[in-house]
Amino acid sequence: MNSVAVITIDGPSGSGKGTISRMLAQDLGWHFLDSGALYRLVALGADKHQIPLDDQAGLARFARDLDVVFTHSQSGEEPDVLLENQVVTSELRTETCGNRASQVAAIPAVRQALLDRQRAFAQPPGLVADGRDMGTAIFPDASIKIFLTASAAERAQRRYKQLKQKGFDVSLAALVGEITERDARDSQRQASPLKPATDAIVIDTSAMNITEVLAKIKHICQQRLADVSQQ
Ligand code: C5P
Repeated sequence: MNSVAVITIDGPSGSGKGTISRMLAQDLGWHFLDSGALYRLVALGADKHQIPLDDQAGLARFARDLDVVFTHSQSGEEPDVLLENQVVTSELRTETCGNRASQVAAIPAVRQALLDRQRAFAQPPGLVADGRDMGTAIFPDASIKIFLTASAAERAQRRYKQLKQKGFDVSLAALVGEITERDARDSQRQASPLKPATDAIVIDTSAMNITEVLAKIKHICQQRLADVSQQ
């Protein structure tokens, strides 16, 4: 499909893949694709333009023509995202937006409309791609495929801490419910459901911290990339 090295990191929400993928890309000096942000942007834009969630053709058109700019961050922190020239970085991160994104993401025409845009992120020297179907549908030939997972209770707990730190008033029980509902929708949909690629390395991060997960993934990458360069 393309000869640029790609590392895919897939998994459910709260598995730590966003933070880990960003840190790994920064570490390697590679490009980074936050594919979830694209679905979140479609959900947010649809809301702003009053495109109903059942207008599949309208949503797909909006996704195809998405006017987005991802700014570059020097510090490894989350960079600003501009939708139609407006900064939407914090709006994108809300639970409401995540839930709407998961509804929009179940529409095959929307997924199709975002396909080429995602593949275009694969540029030298390499790409770390974070999502649900990076290893199964978008980059099936990726050099390394990781699938991060953790129990729903642990993921809700992490999300709870994150949101509390940001000053949001959230309930842990509500978060467990939302995460379980989103997991079910993401893994049971027909179009590119959330699941590990057959050749993915699955890592359960329930009892690991970010540093440990990152070290493990880096170790896997070093081994694999060394193997590939010897072939
Ligand atoms: O990863 P994030 O929580 O930002 O993703 C938001 C939603 O977008 C997910 O719940 C999922 O439904 C959808 N998504 C997807 N495929 C991807 C990335 C995200 O379906 N590659």
